[in-house]
Amino acid sequence: MTTSKKYARITTKTLSEMKENGEKIAMLTAYDFTLAGIVDQAGVDIILVGDSASNVMAGHETTLPITLDQMIYHASSVVRAVKRALVVVDLPFGTYQADSKEALRSAIRIMKESGAHAVKLEGGKEIKDSIARILQAGIPVMGHLGLTPQSIYKFGTYTVRAQKKAEAEQLRADAKMLETLGCFGIVLEKIPATLAGQVAQEIKVPIIGIGAGAEVDGQVLVLHDMLGMDQTFSPRFLRRYLNLNEQITTAVVNYTQDVKQKRFPNAKEKY
Ligand code: KIV
Repeated sequence: MTTSKKYARITTKTLSEMKENGEKIAMLTAYDFTLAGIVDQAGVDIILVGDSASNVMAGHETTLPITLDQMIYHASSVVRAVKRALVVVDLPFGTYQADSKEALRSAIRIMKESGAHAVKLEGGKEIKDSIARILQAGIPVMGHLGLTPQSIYKFGTYTVRAQKKAEAEQLRADAKMLETLGCFGIVLEKIPATLAGQVAQEIKVPIIGIGAGAEVDGQVLVLHDMLGMDQTFSPRFLRRYLNLNEQITTAVVNYTQDVKQKRFPNAKEKY
């Protein structure tokens, strides 16, 4: 079963048409060939090779440790599987904040070595020069505002952002700046739904929310979270579509029992 695939290949232009037509954009993460192929076939519009791979794939507590080489490894595995979706890759922490030349070099490595279609950077005015330089080189950029997990040690918690007027105003100004620079879309993470809705009205490029309510142009979730791989992570915004943790556990318990009880392999499962 797949969703209808009106567009044969998703580009940044397709996404802006979707916003104009009021068609919602579906985005999910993927970090490997097998799951990326399934997600692409099922009809998702954007596949994000998120630096959440640092948590999900490598077991780190934060997104900070993942390296550019590791992101390129994940991204190239995803790109090999994807035929339709736009593949966006996170620039990892420490590869774009120091100066804009380093940011461009990091983005070029991602594009050249993985074959991905765009990069995503966390932050607003403080990384303006990096974003501008990457865009000047012809690389599509997606912004990311609100909860920016690479700054977790600055904020200290993963709670809802931009609840106070000053921070909300700054977020709106940053979104405007990202649009003016030429970003093709912006992720808004964990901010009040009303604010996210206002930004989606004010800004012409697609606004993709995670924990930002329904009044935006699309939604993104971490694939492993929506599949229910980790039952301990339960933020309010997360909808689980499967309980894969339970299903995988049952399968592995059954297999182990079959091996131990000599039920596997059977007479037909051999040469
Ligand atoms: O790294 C990631 O998975 C992300 C999403 C949560 C938007 O940036």
